[in-house]
Amino acid sequence: MAFVVAVAQQKGGAGKSTVAANLAVALAMGGDRVALLDTDPQQSLARWWEERAHQPRAVALDFETPAGWRIPAAIDRLKRNHGFIILDTAPHAETEAKIAIRAADLVLLPMQPSPADLWASDATLKLAAAEKRRAVVLLNRVPASGKLPQQIQAELVRRGVAVLAEKLGNRTAFASAFMLGLAVCEAAPKNQATTELSALAAAVRAMQKG
Ligand SMILES: Nc1ncnc2c1ncn2[C@@H]1O[C@H](COP(=O)(O)OP(=O)(O)OP(=O)(O)O)[C@@H](O)[C@H]1O
Ligand SMILES: [Mg+2]
Repeated sequence: MAFVVAVAQQKGGAGKSTVAANLAVALAMGGDRVALLDTDPQQSLARWWEERAHQPRAVALDFETPAGWRIPAAIDRLKRNHGFIILDTAPHAETEAKIAIRAADLVLLPMQPSPADLWASDATLKLAAAEKRRAVVLLNRVPASGKLPQQIQAELVRRGVAVLAEKLGNRTAFASAFMLGLAVCEAAPKNQATTELSALAAAVRAMQKG
């Protein structure tokens, strides 16, 4: 049975699509069969997937774009023969995001370390709590210097929110790989972004086990 991860965050541009696509590929590289579901009506991953078809470096991945009420049925079908199902979700806690969270074993919240992003995360955290889903924050686009990430993390911990020790830095490798329809682990295996992504994939594997 697949472990279902909803990458959700009501704040637009937090890195949901980037994290969902990269995490799906990193898990697939580890040998699992992985399905990536783009549940955002904007279908931000559609072009990425199109580009991917021309890429000999692309590892095998299944990709679907179920909308609204079709999401749970797609998950139920894919659960039987996949190790992981990764859901990219829509911003603004729309109906799709709610459905995705309800169907998930884990809600992964990418959050840029800024006060605006911190405050905007409340809605998604509340939604996950209302659905009794495990939620963890992934600090994303973390700058190389400055105290703000630590301060944001401390505030999250103070509020009782789980924050992953693994973080993703602010790295252009993500956009460069995305442009080619790839994840950083395929396009730039030696980049620091790949090291961080691999650590994230390992953390998700650990959470699957309990
Ligand atoms: N770790 C990172 N380092 C550098 N750039 C990043 C990182 N993560 C995401 N980005 C960039 O941030 C922008 C927004 O990312 P993305 O589209 O993944 O966010 P999103 O949450 O899916 O947005 P939306 O809410 O519109 O769906 C993109 O340009 C992406 O390349
Ligand atoms: Mg997106």
